[in-house]
Parts: sequence; C-alpha cells; structure tokens
Amino acid sequence: MTGIVRRKALITGAAGGMGRACAWLFGATCDLVLSDVSKDRLDAFAKELRDAGNIVTAHAGDMLDEAHLASLAAELDSERACSVIHTAGLSPALADWQAIMKVNLVASEMLMQALKPRLAPGSVVVPIASMAGHMMPAIPEIDALLVDPLADGFIQGIGAAVEAMGGQGGDVGKRGVSYSLSKRGVHLHTERWGIALGSRGVRVVSISPGVIHTPMGLAENEKTPGAADTMNAAVVGRIGTPMDIAMAAKFLCSDEASFITATDLKVDGGSTASLMPPKG
Ligand SMILES: NC(=O)c1ccc[n+]([C@@H]2O[C@H](COP(=O)([O-])OP(=O)(O)OC[C@H]3O[C@@H](n4cnc5c(N)ncnc54)[C@H](O)[C@@H]3O)[C@@H](O)[C@H]2O)c1
Repeated sequence: MTGIVRRKALITGAAGGMGRACAWLFGATCDLVLSDVSKDRLDAFAKELRDAGNIVTAHAGDMLDEAHLASLAAELDSERACSVIHTAGLSPALADWQAIMKVNLVASEMLMQALKPRLAPGSVVVPIASMAGHMMPAIPEIDALLVDPLADGFIQGIGAAVEAMGGQGGDVGKRGVSYSLSKRGVHLHTERWGIALGSRGVRVVSISPGVIHTPMGLAENEKTPGAADTMNAAVVGRIGTPMDIAMAAKFLCSDEASFITATDLKVDGGSTASLMPPKG
C-alpha cells in the first residue's frame, strides 16, 4: 500500500503513564516508534494500539544501552522531520539515587547524542523534566557538573553533591536530591541542545510536570514524604492527567510553537509558583 508518508513520533517510556497518553494522541497523526524497558508492558500496549488502527514499531530496551538507542535512531529518517517525546524516567519512590541520576539525566544525553545525526529540520524533541528541577536553587558548581553528564567521573562528582545536600536525610534524602538535580540537569540539557540544534531547524523544549496521575505519580504520593503537599499545591485544584502532558507535548511539536525552543514549559497546575511565590 502506498500513500503520503506521515511524520514519525518516537516515544520513550511508552508503557508508562505519560508515554501511553502521548502514544494515543500522537498516533492519530503520526507513525509511532515506541520504547520501554518493560518488554511485556510495551508489547501489550503496542498490540492495543495496533488493534485500534495505529501504525506502531516497538523496541524494548534500556535507555542506558547504546545498542537500544542506536535501534531507535535507525527508525528515524534523516530527511523527514519527526517528534521525540522522551518520558522514560525514574522517581525517588522507584530507585536509588544513582539509578535516578543515570536514567533521568545520563540517558537523556545519550539519547540526544544517538539521535542527533537523524534529526531532520522541523524535528522537535521534548524531554520530560519535572517541576522538582525548578525547586532547587541554581548552584554554579553543581550546574558545572550537570551540563556534562557523560564526563568521566560524573556519577562520583555528582554523588558528592547528593551526599552533601541530601545525606542527612539518609537514602530517602539522597533519592529526592538526586531526582531534583537530575531534572535541573534536563533543563540545562534542553537549553544546551536547543541552542546547538537551532541552526539546523530542530527545536528542543522540555516539559516540567507537576504531580500527574500515573503509576509514578501515585507511587510518589504514597511513599515519598511531602509529595502529596506538592499535589495539593496545584492552584487548579486537581491532580494532573497524563493527557495534560501529552497535549502540551503535541502543542510544542506543532507549527504553532515554532518560536519556542531551548526552554522549559511548566505543566504543573501552578504548583511551582504556589510553592515558590515570586519575591516582592
Ligand atoms: N508522574 C508524575 O507525577 C511526574 C511528575 C513530574 C515529572 N515526571 C516525569 O515524567 C516522566 C514520565 O513519568 P510517568 O509518570 O509517566 O512515569 P511511569 O513510571 O508511569 O512511566 C515511566 C516509564 O519509563 C520506563 N523506564 C524506566 N526506566 C527506564 C529505562 N532505564 N529505560 C527505558 N525505559 C525506562 C518505565 O518502564 C515506565 O514505563 C518521568 O521522566 C518522570 O520523572 C512525572
């Protein structure tokens, strides 16, 4: 069967809450390339999407595995614009501080390195960060580490910062600090890549969600001290939905957002502003 070739949408973490919503929304207009470390959940979801008429390629694998990233890059056509929604990530309730830093920040950088040669003009990359990245004060010495997550000794160097800032809270404290620093790192990564790829016509814009009704968001509310306070800080008076994030990503990938790059969009129901009101 021949026809008009549609834009591809690469969605990582596709078996998770936001990834699934992005797949349903982008699948209406794009051919889907899906990735997740959980093969069983990914395969089941890909079947559900195909049964509903979507065009889906699914690759199970770890975002820290270069071979997996190469298989995702190979799905993209270097002459045709694509959308990339990078939702794969770990939160404090789900993993230790090192895994959080590696999956959230190191893998984001590895993904961009892998995709860079395949991103045609008009492509848009949307890494999913977090409002937590806005809650940390900017500390120049730590930012200097966060801007180079593939550097030798990055984990040891950032580990010293995690220990200093969160060590008094034990394992829970270190997980929380690692998560916030990893997401601040994603904000910096977005600015850096947006600047680097702008002249090629590729935009990079992160989204910082507030608390969202996904397996991760619910696990945080249940297990991490203070998480429910963050949810209750949303001035719109409700928890966010995965589709709130997918719709923001769809807008950022559209022509209507063509002047938006190298920046972050908070989709948090006003939580960050409410918890950190402007001074004055
Ligand atoms: N849910 C929230 O309240 C919330 C708030 C702020 C930011 N975020 C961020 O949004 C993103 C998506 O979160 P979600 O709520 O959909 O989470 P989720 O746990 O529902 O989905 C995340 C998916 O990522 C996959 N994944 C984890 N590690 C991976 C790895 N190493 N390689 C490949 N896949 C991997 C998981 O299998 C899972 O399917 C994350 O980056 C998260 O930090 C979530």
